[in-house]
This record gives sequence, C-alpha cells and structure tokens, in this order.
Amino acid sequence: MATFKIKRYNPEKQAEPYYEEFQYDIPAGSTVLDCMNEIKWQQDGSLTFRMSCRSAICGSCAVKVNGHATLACQKQAENMVKNDTIVLEPLGNMKPLKDLAVDFTPFWDKINKVTPYLQPRSAPPEKERRQSPAEFKMIDDTSTCIMCGSCYSDCNVLEVDDNFLGPAALAKAQRFVGDSRDSKTLERVKQLSEYGGIWDCTHCAECVERCPKPAEPFYRIKEIMAVALEKGVHDNVGARHAISFVNSVKHSGSLNENKLPVESMGFFNIKGLLELVPVGLRMLLKRKVPPILHKSIENVQDVRRIFRKLNQ
Ligand code: SF4
Ligand code: SF4
Ligand code: FES
Repeated sequence: MATFKIKRYNPEKQAEPYYEEFQYDIPAGSTVLDCMNEIKWQQDGSLTFRMSCRSAICGSCAVKVNGHATLACQKQAENMVKNDTIVLEPLGNMKPLKDLAVDFTPFWDKINKVTPYLQPRSAPPEKERRQSPAEFKMIDDTSTCIMCGSCYSDCNVLEVDDNFLGPAALAKAQRFVGDSRDSKTLERVKQLSEYGGIWDCTHCAECVERCPKPAEPFYRIKEIMAVALEKGVHDNVGARHAISFVNSVKHSGSLNENKLPVESMGFFNIKGLLELVPVGLRMLLKRKVPPILHKSIENVQDVRRIFRKLNQ
C-alpha cells in the first residue's frame, strides 16, 4: 500500500493548485502509469494526465515522479516508493493546464525554431538519399528522441531564461547539423550560436539524467559546439570562453581566471568589458581576486602531452 500524493489543478474550479492523496495497493509489476490509471478508474475519474502507448514510445506520459521528470510508463511503481509515498507532479518549465497535463506550446515553438527538417544538398534522387553506416551513426542517438519533454522540464537554464532553446530543440538541431545530407550546416551553427543557443547551456547534464532514450541532449549540444568551432563560428562569448579555457589549461595546466573573463568578452567589446567592472570590484572587496601573475602548475609538461595526444 502506498500513498500517491498528486498535484491537482483545475483553474475552472480553484485558482491555486493543491496536493491530493490517494491510497493504492500496488500490484506486483505495475508501472507508475498503471497505478495512475487504476486511481483514475477506481477513485477519481477527473484525474487528468496524458498517455498513449504504455511502452515508452510515444512520449506522452512524462510527469515528475518524486521531483524528477520521467516516463510514468517506464518506471516500476514499487521502485519509486519513498517513505510509503510516490509524489506525482506536472512537468516543469511549462504551464500546467489541468492536473498533470501541461501546455507544450513553448516546447514545440522551440523545436520549430531550429528548422527541424532536412535541407538537402541536391535535388531528390531517384531512390533514397543514402548514408554510410558511419554517417548515420552521427545522428543515430538523437533520432531516438520521442519528444517527451522530460529534459525540457528539468533544464536549469529554462527555469531562469525562457529564451533558451532548451535541450530537446538543441538535440533536434544536432539531428540536422550532424546529417551528411544536409546543406545548411554553417547557417545552422551560426543560428545556434546566438543568444539562447548552445553556449547558454550550463553543462549541468540534468537533461542526460532525465532522457529516457539515447538522445541525451547535453552530448548532442557538445557535438554542435564542436562543429561550430570547426566551422570557425566563434565570434561570441560562449565560444571565446571555451577557447580561452582550453588555451589556458594547455599553456599552464590550470585556468587563468583573470584572463578568462576578458578573453570571453572579447578585447574590443568595450560594453561587455565595462559590465565586468562591478564583478571585479566585488571580487576585490571580498579578496577573491586570483593572483595577478598566473603560474604554470608543476608537471605542466604532462598536461601538454595530453593535449598533443588529443590533437593527434
Ligand atoms: S546540460 Fe544544458 S540543456 Fe541540459 S539540462 Fe543542463 S543547462 Fe539544460
Ligand atoms: S531528448 Fe530525451 S528527454 Fe528530451 S524530449 Fe527527447 S526523449 Fe525526451
Ligand atoms: S504512454 Fe507512451 S511513453 Fe508512456
């Protein structure tokens, strides 16, 4: 027997959401979605959530279980019980519509922003556009995305910045950036390097934890970053930050924290550099300013050797 503590919301009846508890004896082998269905059928027919395939294929049953987004049909309920309770809430970063159903409009808007279709190099061939197995491997993982929204729900950047494209859209973008048959790679990485794109990801990797498929958006974002740098698209703070970081470690074995912000902003970006002044002053007052002279670490040769190996 477990308590299902479910976040309820029905704006037609009550403006504020609230939690309601249901007792349910979990049959062996039941998924969280099975239990939600039984609660709906036996206890409260008004309980609202989305579902379809019950097989982790359609992506529609994603909800927060014990605070983290997941597919309800993919989780064994018994394994999710904590202190005799399972907490169910709607996905985050999207507006709840009713109970566990949320408004996916911003999610789809952002998918549309990355031009989620092939813009081919040539006129349609007689048969299919062929790829080698190696070429297909570049887009294999991201092709597994089922658009469940779990990554979008738990992305830390989206909590504070609506403009961020988000993990699902960026994973979808890699699907075409990495496609050997697409003709717009440069245009795509230029657009994805703008504000709200790849460089605004904070590398927390929460989306990898939440993704039920091998799509794992953060790894796809890193792949787009690599293509952007290869294509010479680095006239932006994020790319300059990455390059400065790598150069500093390659040179001295550690991060030059005085140089990093200046190089990231760009030497001729006067406005950006002036914006750094208050931060610098606060660091000075709190005695957090790193030593002016940046020294190499002992055995820096070992670090340089690793870089040489990587380059090879
Ligand atoms: S790694 Fe980036 S995209 Fe993924 S959850 Fe963190 S901030 Fe969001
Ligand atoms: S990337 Fe993963 S978590 Fe995000 S929508 Fe696709 S399948 Fe769901
Ligand atoms: S019901 Fe389709 S993924 Fe869960």
